[in-house]
Amino acid sequence: MSVLPAPGTISFARGIPSPDMFPIDALAQSARRAVENAGRVALNYGPPAGFGPLREWLGARHGVAPDRVIVTPGSLIGLNFVVAHLFRDGGTAIVEAPTYDRVIGALATAGADVATIDNTADGLDLDRLRELAAGNPKPKLLYVLPTFHNPTGRTLTLAQRHELVAIAVEHDLLVVEDDPYGLLRIDGERQPYVHELLRDAGGEHLAIFASSFSKSVAPGLRVGYLVLPEELVAPFEALATRTYVSPPLLPQAQLLDFLESGSFEPHLEFLAAFLRPRRDALLERLDADLSGLAEWTRPEGGYFLWLELPAHVDTTELNATAVAAGISFVPGAGFFAGGRGHNTARLSFSFPSVDEIEEGAHRLTALVRETLDR
Ligand SMILES: Cc1ncc(COP(=O)(O)O)c(C=O)c1O
Repeated sequence: MSVLPAPGTISFARGIPSPDMFPIDALAQSARRAVENAGRVALNYGPPAGFGPLREWLGARHGVAPDRVIVTPGSLIGLNFVVAHLFRDGGTAIVEAPTYDRVIGALATAGADVATIDNTADGLDLDRLRELAAGNPKPKLLYVLPTFHNPTGRTLTLAQRHELVAIAVEHDLLVVEDDPYGLLRIDGERQPYVHELLRDAGGEHLAIFASSFSKSVAPGLRVGYLVLPEELVAPFEALATRTYVSPPLLPQAQLLDFLESGSFEPHLEFLAAFLRPRRDALLERLDADLSGLAEWTRPEGGYFLWLELPAHVDTTELNATAVAAGISFVPGAGFFAGGRGHNTARLSFSFPSVDEIEEGAHRLTALVRETLDR
């Protein structure tokens, strides 16, 4: 099945990059160099934790020993390892409401209990986090997306990052920070990672960091990674060995060549320039047509914007009408563990062109206005 939207449909649904975002020429050169220069290693089976030189590059980038970095075939499998390992005897996970739907699915499959803290226009409900973190039995982890959150596009303020870290340290709570979008900043100031703040606060052992090159280079490479506390490295290597012996090393060698060739920083600037007019086109249409009728986020980067309609609107029904009108989005309910969010929607602006976004957003706001008039 193709992951691409049906021809003729303008999709705000899939959180996938436009093919125009891929650095094709640079990756072609990196592919050839990777085979020629590293092929004798990268074409073989290898260590379960991935291509050594890429682990070194990532360790240096995050200021940690390379043996704490596990490179996985995409970060979702790393997040699945986190869930499988930590909830093998049950337990409670704290997640945001809303949060990344595939992690909700992984937690459900593992049989974990899930408690939620609201992520709203006012930020994270940290009072609720404090209450949950003090709970008995102790929650096993907090899973958060502090920067360009999926699905809302929100970014946690510095003050909230500090407060979250203080709560985690006080209650010895493991924090899984998922950050596949953080390098896709369109505007605003970069915030420190939560795992950096945890380290500064003496809580390095409480931080798991997950990231990926799927959104910043290409998902087809399937390169994601985890930065783990020391004691989790061996069990995760065992999980990786059991699951796939070793990950595909060639795309990791190819990616490392790309990263070391000096192409990455200019590429990130290109991506910001690519995403900016798309985000702005969507925001302009919403501002023009729905002001006072609905609410939406104004993301400083990433792929997503979050739309909240009046409580009586059901976005699953609205999406069915939208598909008939040649557009699609993701109804928000699936991003809430245990229900809610029936009046919300995730709109992705990474895939359609600016013209398609203008046309698609025009169709969408017309549909919303019709629904509200009814
Ligand atoms: C929040 C979040 N985490 C993790 C992933 C997994 O990405 P990948 O497995 O491609 O690295 C995604 C992909 O959409 C995501 O949105």
